[in-house]
Amino acid sequence: MSTLVTGGAGYIGSTVVRELIRQGEDVVVFDNLSQGHRKAVHQDATLVVGDLADAGAVDSVFRTYDIDAIMHFASHTLVGESMEEPFLYLDTNIRCGLNLMRAAVEHDADRFILSSTANLFGLPDEMPITEETSIDPGSPYGESKRILERYLHWLDRTRGMTFAALRYFNAAGAAGPDHGEDHDPETHLIPIVLEVALGQRDEIVIFGDDYDTPDGTCVRDYIHVRDLAQAHILALRALKDGKSRVYNLGNGNGYSVREVIETAREVTGREIPARVGDRRPGDPATLIADAQRIRDELGWDPQFPTLSDIISTAWDWHVKHPDGYASVSERPS
Ligand code: UFG
Repeated sequence: MSTLVTGGAGYIGSTVVRELIRQGEDVVVFDNLSQGHRKAVHQDATLVVGDLADAGAVDSVFRTYDIDAIMHFASHTLVGESMEEPFLYLDTNIRCGLNLMRAAVEHDADRFILSSTANLFGLPDEMPITEETSIDPGSPYGESKRILERYLHWLDRTRGMTFAALRYFNAAGAAGPDHGEDHDPETHLIPIVLEVALGQRDEIVIFGDDYDTPDGTCVRDYIHVRDLAQAHILALRALKDGKSRVYNLGNGNGYSVREVIETAREVTGREIPARVGDRRPGDPATLIADAQRIRDELGWDPQFPTLSDIISTAWDWHVKHPDGYASVSERPS
């Protein structure tokens, strides 16, 4: 039996694939390579290049391979972009997710892990954010994930699907010096800061310093991509008990944009010029996770909890591969 990983060539998906293979699982990656990289996909995984919008192609993957579990990463994932291009999220993300869920039900694949997000909680009035915090998505992106979570809820009730919705806070860091984050265009804070450190950009623009936070810049809970991967492995195994669940995934530590820049200066030894610009639409002031539930229930234990650990691994990747996967020679083994 195989695990189907959509978006398995992407930043988080490819890290999870690597971990699944290490644990001896058979993996089929389904990815349209619009954002992902062939050279990020572990050599022992089967890579099928295809688009979730094509229901026939999705069905054919289930007919060809013996799939009993699904991890669904493939998605548009940017809060800011979703405020500009809502239909990429409210239409494409939903339609692609539905094609996948329909095929899974038709082919009796009954364990499903969904990449969900802290953006479900919009502008939360309590911190840290637990799984009980009220849901009021902060953007079309967050809304698309909320809707997919609800669809899974109903497939659990009506079709015996068992699911885990994993609500990531800010994924960061690199899985290894040859396996890291490479987006085009890059919009995330840590890789942009490191591109400034490398001299690929002149400066980092801080999106607003008048938020209600200790230094006025936004506070986020950064979680290492390998710790995220570990949570997926634990959740996949746990679902064998037939019980669906939702988990928040973060370290419970909030770092401001200024603190991220300062830590990156310490890690890299570079100056990293910064200036303050306008706020970015859709950004909440503070997002910090309470991830006690997955720690208690599944024994999740993050190995890279500090910001300097996270930034150090990302820096090793950026220094070795300043142009990302263009300079990676082969698929990882
Ligand atoms: N930021 C800047 N300047 C930049 C880029 C980012 O100041 O050039 C700030 C943002 O305003 C934000 C923080 O840095 O306050 C982090 O921004 P990112 O773009 O790195 O990440 P987001 O918090 O916007 O979003 C990420 C993922 C989403 C996920 C969310 C959950 O991209 O998919 O974390 O917290 F939903």
